[in-house]
Amino acid sequence: MKTKLICCVMLLLCTMAASAQKLSFNHGPYLQNMGSDEVTIYFTTSTEAYSWVEVIGDKWTKPQRFATVFAGQYDAYTKENRVRVTGLRPGVQYRYRLISKEIKEYRPYKVTYGDSIASSWEHFTTLNPKQKSFSFLLTNDGHDKPQKVKNLLGKFPINNVDMVFYLGDMISYYDKEEAPYYGYIDPSVEMFAKNKPFISIRGNHEMRGKLTRNYMNLIGCPNNRFYNIAYFGNTVIVMLDTGEDKPDTQPVYAGMNCYDGYRMEQLEWLRKEAATKRFKAAKNKIVLMHIPPLVADDPNIPEEHAATELEKHFKPLFNEIGIDIAISGHTHRYILIEKGERDNNFPILTNDNKSIMRVNSDSKGIHVKIVNEKDEVLLDRVFN
Ligand SMILES: [Fe+2]
Repeated sequence: MKTKLICCVMLLLCTMAASAQKLSFNHGPYLQNMGSDEVTIYFTTSTEAYSWVEVIGDKWTKPQRFATVFAGQYDAYTKENRVRVTGLRPGVQYRYRLISKEIKEYRPYKVTYGDSIASSWEHFTTLNPKQKSFSFLLTNDGHDKPQKVKNLLGKFPINNVDMVFYLGDMISYYDKEEAPYYGYIDPSVEMFAKNKPFISIRGNHEMRGKLTRNYMNLIGCPNNRFYNIAYFGNTVIVMLDTGEDKPDTQPVYAGMNCYDGYRMEQLEWLRKEAATKRFKAAKNKIVLMHIPPLVADDPNIPEEHAATELEKHFKPLFNEIGIDIAISGHTHRYILIEKGERDNNFPILTNDNKSIMRVNSDSKGIHVKIVNEKDEVLLDRVFN
């Protein structure tokens, strides 16, 4: 009887605590899938809500409302929001804010709304396909260290670049919902991501943990793929999803991985992409891939399996299609393999886990500057 009473009191307290939770914006907003005519705005709320985005700017004198709609229903009674804003013009600045209406109760025939909240106005500028240069910051292997991410992002003025790339292993594993937010999304929001987009490329560590299959809900993945290609002015960026480092048969993967076939799927996809006129016409061709196409250690250790596969299959393809540079992380070491050192017609650059690079791609070539946590310049050079 006494146990029953304690349970009832506990239940009551839990219910009161839940109902007392005020509606607020928890994470974001952060910009994904930035294009010349669209962007997707990601954010979360503390409780279930019905949310949308208001956008103003350019020729819109009144705020335009954008919400996610699927099969005749607006996205609602959710905490996670991804709102695609379309119909934008290239190279134009817009302002936006988030609106959320709490859903206190959602009965089949009666919905009860609670408080409404609005964020402050933020801004973004769409990309311009005619831009003469493309610039970005890139860091990798943050491994759940938000302060390190913020320190590195502070090494270059973010206002002067088009976006930020994260080249994998920004978290060590994904077994708590908060992990990607804690590791790098929240620091990005704090530093730039309300106003400039980032693109997140998976490392092998983002593929670990029981929530790994939810990762696509948190980052923009055009065509519902983790590997992609994007054109910015006269630059093409190839983004590969290099999989786990060790063989699929490794006991720790419990028989649930099949990355060997997945890498070959990307090889064939890239072969087709590279045959297009647009790819051939691009002045600078940059490949971003977490694991480098380079066996950097003992080839006999399981950790070098993916690198061996990538060097064997992708390096010849990169030679064939005229890649200008391949940039990676993963090794936690700064490595620069010059063109021709290992049957490679392009430099292979591996960033360590304590540095950030600024890349500027224009008609003169690809300028890469790497600075580490101690402000030491590891590389400052134009590849052309
Ligand atoms: Fe890695």
